[in-house]
Amino acid sequence: MDKQTILEKQKRYLWPSYLLYYTEPLALDHGEGLYVWDVEGNRYLDFFGGILTTSVGHKHPKVTQRAKEQIDKIIHTSTLYPHENVVNLAEKLAQIAPGDLSTSFFTGSGTEADETAVMLAKAATGYQEVVALRHAYSGRSSLAMSLTGISAWRIGGTQIPGIKHALNPYCYRCPLKMTYPTCGVACAEDVEEVIKTTTSGRIAAFIAEPIQGVGGFITPPPEYFKIVVEIVHHYGGLFIDDEVQTGFGRTGTYWFGIEHWDVVPDIMTMAKGIANGFPLSNTMTTPEIAGKLTGLTISTFGGNPVSAAASLATLEVLEEEASPEHVAQVGALLRSGLEKLQEKYPLIGDVRGKGLMQGIEVVADRASKEPSPQAVNELFEATKARGLLIGKGGMYGNVIRIAPPLTATEDHIAEALDILDHAFAEVQERY
Ligand SMILES: Cc1ncc(COP(=O)(O)O)c(C=O)c1O
Repeated sequence: MDKQTILEKQKRYLWPSYLLYYTEPLALDHGEGLYVWDVEGNRYLDFFGGILTTSVGHKHPKVTQRAKEQIDKIIHTSTLYPHENVVNLAEKLAQIAPGDLSTSFFTGSGTEADETAVMLAKAATGYQEVVALRHAYSGRSSLAMSLTGISAWRIGGTQIPGIKHALNPYCYRCPLKMTYPTCGVACAEDVEEVIKTTTSGRIAAFIAEPIQGVGGFITPPPEYFKIVVEIVHHYGGLFIDDEVQTGFGRTGTYWFGIEHWDVVPDIMTMAKGIANGFPLSNTMTTPEIAGKLTGLTISTFGGNPVSAAASLATLEVLEEEASPEHVAQVGALLRSGLEKLQEKYPLIGDVRGKGLMQGIEVVADRASKEPSPQAVNELFEATKARGLLIGKGGMYGNVIRIAPPLTATEDHIAEALDILDHAFAEVQERY
């Protein structure tokens, strides 16, 4: 089908509330490795991976083969029947997860994983209130939107009671107008005030992303999580670590983002990169905490054997071709290239992130830090025209998110940096 027909049908038969990238949306046709092709045959280097999801590249032969083999056997079983792929996947995840997180509950999306985590925390603690973070993103259910700390993603005025939003560790735009490290990480200490002044003083959970994804790859200072998790435990809560974006080596060096911050979560959620694009998510916890959810639960699509086969293959490929060490190495290359661009282009206010999760905060003026979503839109068109796909985020829509498949090589990084350089040169001229 030609591009125009696809775009016309999209407009006619799908909700207008779908967020679509680019002035003229991009209709993709196929992909291979780090590249995707649109229906007109144009090739793009994919540095957003379908929102940090295509973790080992498009059409990876191992993932495709394992999924096909499973499709030929049985596509769907439901969580009512134990399946070999599902138990093997749970075993594998127990081996790579931090601490004593060794038991899984599989669902179909990040939203469901976060929902499941909050439900479990409430059941395990007997408390009801939850502390989340400003600028966080948890998904699109009523609960997940209520946990989310960005107005644009809280559509419908959804308000589940009992959720409080603490200050987030956003050093570039410190909510306390302080500077790290002289601030003493005051935003972390403030979580105690939030609990004491806005809750009953006993909380079920604190939920946070090790690096805020949709929020614009906001990266906390190293001490942040240690301080907060101690406070949370003191007030009876469990720490829910949302690894939906940061999991599976994305941040380099470790399998999970939280390991950079030297704390062990009580509950961990994961989705996106877990199965290279097959729908799958998981809520992991300790056997002790899982045992506190008395009563029975199901998930029709949770732990689908095809998704589980794809996930097992994805984890194997990550170990073989794109280990957390590999991500740290190519991520460092990407980071230093972006920092060089920052020296050249005043539009770049901040560069942050870890591994292959790097953000560029774009500002109209470095002194005032005025966000420039307009420049980001122009950069989107300029990179697309040169054959590079990137992502965006942030409260003000002014953060470029760069997150290629973890199988990215030094050559891919060099190609992307070159395109970004030319795109910034073009757009900077207009500012
Ligand atoms: C950190 C985080 N949690 C949860 C979600 C929700 O995941 P899903 O879109 O699969 O429901 C997202 C999605 O972007 C996310 O980034």
